[in-house]
Amino acid sequence: MGSQWGRDGAYSRAIREGYRSRAAYKLIDIQERYHLIRGSDNVVDLGAAPGSWLQVVREITEGLVLGIDLSPIAHLEGVRTISADFTDGTLPGEVGSLLGTVNVVLSDAAPKLSGHRSYDQARSIALGEEALAFSCGVLKPGGNFLVKSFQGEDFNLLLERVRDHFLSVRVYRTRTTRKGSSEVYIIAKHFVSMHETEGSV
Ligand SMILES: C[S@@+](CC[C@H](N)C(=O)[O-])C[C@H]1O[C@@H](n2cnc3c(N)ncnc32)[C@H](O)[C@@H]1O
Repeated sequence: MGSQWGRDGAYSRAIREGYRSRAAYKLIDIQERYHLIRGSDNVVDLGAAPGSWLQVVREITEGLVLGIDLSPIAHLEGVRTISADFTDGTLPGEVGSLLGTVNVVLSDAAPKLSGHRSYDQARSIALGEEALAFSCGVLKPGGNFLVKSFQGEDFNLLLERVRDHFLSVRVYRTRTTRKGSSEVYIIAKHFVSMHETEGSV
């Protein structure tokens, strides 16, 4: 029998508690530890299908919640969704006009795995960089960012790039992450926009 965080435990718990996937517990774990999302925040979730993070976010904030994914996301009460590639350069502008202020950007986006570890890792780093670029394009100064990545070659480069834009940056492996996986989350707080930096010089 699995523990509540083990593979079977998290999966059956998700079914019992009505979440669309066991990934919900990764965000719950991160939120309990880092308090990334506040009660009135507007939140954008990149790579959001099937929608368990959107369900968790909806429970935390009374603000606007928007999910973006290549795949369609089945309707969730009080959540807007867009079927699109978030690396499309027009998306930040569209999101800005939909939400106005964006306080938090989350990305659990993952490329389709080929099974070749270093190739998959490189694609995941590239997607993380795209998520960072997106967040820099929409976040309000002081906003927060969470991105999934995989430890390995070039991970530290992504980490450094995140550090260039946020005052506080941590790396965390959630309790639900499967044994043997190199999956980690970069948790970045207090976005410093170029405008803010220029003003402080
Ligand atoms: C691990 S799943 C996300 C699970 C989600 N956090 C949840 O709780 O239900 C990763 C998602 O990233 C999406 N994805 C990958 N690349 C993307 C891109 N460029 N634009 C939008 N979505 C993308 C995939 O379609 C997939 O649905």
